[in-house]
Amino acid sequence: MRRTFSDCPLAKKVFIKSYGCQMNVYDSARMGDVLAREGYIATDAPSNADLVILNTCHIREKAAEKVYSELGRLRSLKESGMLIAVAGCVAQAEGEEIMRRAPYVDFVVGPQNYHQLAKLVSDANLTQKSSGLACAINTDFPAESKFDFLPEARASGPAVFLTIQEGCDKFCSFCVVPYTRGVEFSRPASSVLEEARQLVNDGATEITLLGQNVNAYHGDEGRLAGLIQKLSEIGGLNRIRYTTSHPRDMDKDLIAAHGNISKLMPHLHLPVQSGSDATLARMNRQHVADDYLRIIDKLRAARPDIALSSDFIVGHPGETDADFEATLALVDAVGYAQAYSFKYSKRPGTPASDRDDQVPEHVKSDRLEALQNLLNRQQLEFNKSFVGKVVPVLFERRGKLPHQIAGRTPYMQAVYVDCENSDRADQHFGKILPIRIFDAFANSLTGIIETPIERRESNLMGRLRG
Ligand code: 5AD
Ligand code: SF4
Repeated sequence: MRRTFSDCPLAKKVFIKSYGCQMNVYDSARMGDVLAREGYIATDAPSNADLVILNTCHIREKAAEKVYSELGRLRSLKESGMLIAVAGCVAQAEGEEIMRRAPYVDFVVGPQNYHQLAKLVSDANLTQKSSGLACAINTDFPAESKFDFLPEARASGPAVFLTIQEGCDKFCSFCVVPYTRGVEFSRPASSVLEEARQLVNDGATEITLLGQNVNAYHGDEGRLAGLIQKLSEIGGLNRIRYTTSHPRDMDKDLIAAHGNISKLMPHLHLPVQSGSDATLARMNRQHVADDYLRIIDKLRAARPDIALSSDFIVGHPGETDADFEATLALVDAVGYAQAYSFKYSKRPGTPASDRDDQVPEHVKSDRLEALQNLLNRQQLEFNKSFVGKVVPVLFERRGKLPHQIAGRTPYMQAVYVDCENSDRADQHFGKILPIRIFDAFANSLTGIIETPIERRESNLMGRLRG
């Protein structure tokens, strides 16, 4: 049984807020594990906390600016002695800037340094007692790997994340990741397998392998397909996913794994960013649209029901109307189950930000609207194709309504099911149950638990008798 401090009034409390991608969600969970070892328990509001950590995202300008407004709101809480820390990619990229704009921040910690959190917190407490304001910045790329110093991983629920790869060597023209997260690094397979076993022992049944460029994984014992094969041999682990990938690293073993490994879920997030060869070249994506379409063909040959997802950027510098039309044509050709789309946002230090052929804001807005309309139509169509079918759903949590439980299909759709007895809803968490889908919306499905005919009959008889 997991030890809990939640009833102890003397326990110190930490509030960690994650922005941006799933890698930050994973890092926040691991920071929570490090701090639990120091006696901290999680709290869900900054006003109750002794320590607030903002785990930030730098990918687009809006995401980065959110941090400063949140820091402004937190400032008033500092009077009660609370510590404020900034972690993640804004911390890594703008440590000095954070100190200048928000000098009341106690420390800044980069994504490679959070295994040192205990020391940073105790130093910050001492500084606060002696002299008040002073911010420590810890954003070096240390010689050691943080993964070797983290405590045992704990599962936050039945579906968890596990980072296996960090950094990126692709240098897409628009992207800050190679600068904030550094060069590619893959964890040894033994360390990944050990963490996976810890998570499964702690109740996880689905693991999503994470990396900024996860399919570039090259551990000591081979590439991603081999690692997935080894993970699939762990008893109690029923679902495996990985994200996010680059088309150039979709090797033949990985494509084949989608057909051979039944625990590998039939859903793949494979960002293409644009359907225009000219834009792809300007983006330094190192492939053309047709390469991507051929990969999709091979994936579908290996796993005919695979659901596809992508990221798109509209208005990258130099993008013409014809380039944008090519993106719409690619979307038409693929047919996505789901996708994310963004207006190009200038990021300091990246090659695209210096180009003098920037696309006007109103053109970006128009293109985004047109693309999202198409993607939304495809997503709804995909969801509607499930009405009447029975799909296995892993239940993870309660839904928005009191009697609802929520889970995901193999294809990543959110499913809501009404529970007959809301007090017993928790007993479904961690279970994969057959659900008959009866309605579909843009972002979710609804359904009922499909019971075998004999049980359906006896339930019915019971109700008639009652
Ligand atoms: N502007 C807009 N979108 C961006 N992305 C990355 N950098 C930028 C940028 N400068 C998007 C890409 C990437 C996703 C995580 O964020 O689509 O795949
Ligand atoms: Fe950024 Fe992904 Fe390109 Fe790497 S592959 S530079 S993380 S968009």
